[in-house]
Amino acid sequence: MVSLISFYGSRGLKLVRGEGQYVWDSEGKRYLDAHTGHGAAFLGHRPPRVVEAIREQMDSIMVVTPSFVSESMEKCLSSLRQILPKGLDHVYFQNSGTEAVELALKLAFKATGRKGVVAFMGSFHGRTLGSLSVTWNPKYRRGYPLIDVRFGRFNDPSSADLIDGEVAAVIVEPVQGESGVRPSAPEFLREVRRACDEHSCALIFDEVQSGFGRTGEVWSHLRRGVEPDIMTAGKSMGGGFPVSMVAAKEWVVSPLKGGEHGSTHGGNPLACAAVYGGVSTLIEEDVPSKASRRGEELAKRLKDMESRLVREVRGEGLMIGVELRTDVGPVLRALQQRGILALRAGRTVLRLLPPYLITEEDVGRIAEEIEGVLRGG
Ligand SMILES: Cc1ncc(COP(=O)(O)O)c(C=O)c1O
Repeated sequence: MVSLISFYGSRGLKLVRGEGQYVWDSEGKRYLDAHTGHGAAFLGHRPPRVVEAIREQMDSIMVVTPSFVSESMEKCLSSLRQILPKGLDHVYFQNSGTEAVELALKLAFKATGRKGVVAFMGSFHGRTLGSLSVTWNPKYRRGYPLIDVRFGRFNDPSSADLIDGEVAAVIVEPVQGESGVRPSAPEFLREVRRACDEHSCALIFDEVQSGFGRTGEVWSHLRRGVEPDIMTAGKSMGGGFPVSMVAAKEWVVSPLKGGEHGSTHGGNPLACAAVYGGVSTLIEEDVPSKASRRGEELAKRLKDMESRLVREVRGEGLMIGVELRTDVGPVLRALQQRGILALRAGRTVLRLLPPYLITEEDVGRIAEEIEGVLRGG
């Protein structure tokens, strides 16, 4: 008998089908999905354009490495041109968010010839050794040999004082996810940007969770008017297919020589087809504005809830955190019983990451079920 190492606690459900905003378990029970596999199914389960693009690709070729040209890669790159921020013209594909963060850090080390890194309290950037080094939570870090990182206070402009001539990279989530859904303040990012310019180091925005329309903008940093030198994306950009990306400015990538990085599956034709399908969905379905509208409705419904157990509701678009005065575990279990899947961000924050295509009715249902659970009904 082979068993899976249980890094994640079990939710006690076997999921057998997913369509749009719903998943079904092996007993045939339907759930409204505000978990979306840690945000990966933001475009909904089995988004039609993504399914079609992957299917078509499977019928022609499934393996082409970047040493060769593939039609799938060409289509993917030209679709990304429509949504990438100005100046971030150089991209490389990886398979997961953590790998994208690893590459972002490598690019910054190489471009600057320095070793220092600044990250922020509450950050989460992944669980491989480089990305874990810039992740704040001691629970994840303890016991591993990590890169030396200076951690500043998130949203405190004076944290920019940590940035000096030894720093290669400063990495920030424009909206912190894992630590409880915390939007960054524009003046904080501006001050960090100013210090990066002063000391010629690379500013990395990690948009793995907050990007690709989730917060109501294609990239959540756009609303803050501060540009990064490197951006990472992942989770939902392949409509649920495992793919991630680093997008960077010319000065960061030009010092890199052939052979200094690579990935067997990175930029695989199926992944590129998935990204192409994902970008088409994002644009043609006007995903960011739908996320913005439904996000506002949901946040308002949650703020209007009368419960002494709610300390604060915060977030952006469809990335919402409800900070409770109690452990969120029993709340998540009770919601699951009522047919709603959600997730935690830390011990007390109920995190909601529903797909962009939830309806007004779904919004009402999520809010009512949460209210019901908090009332103990
Ligand atoms: C901001 C951020 N960066 C990186 C990652 C790591 O992504 P992955 O789990 O795909 O490696 C995550 C995952 O939650 C994330 O939220």
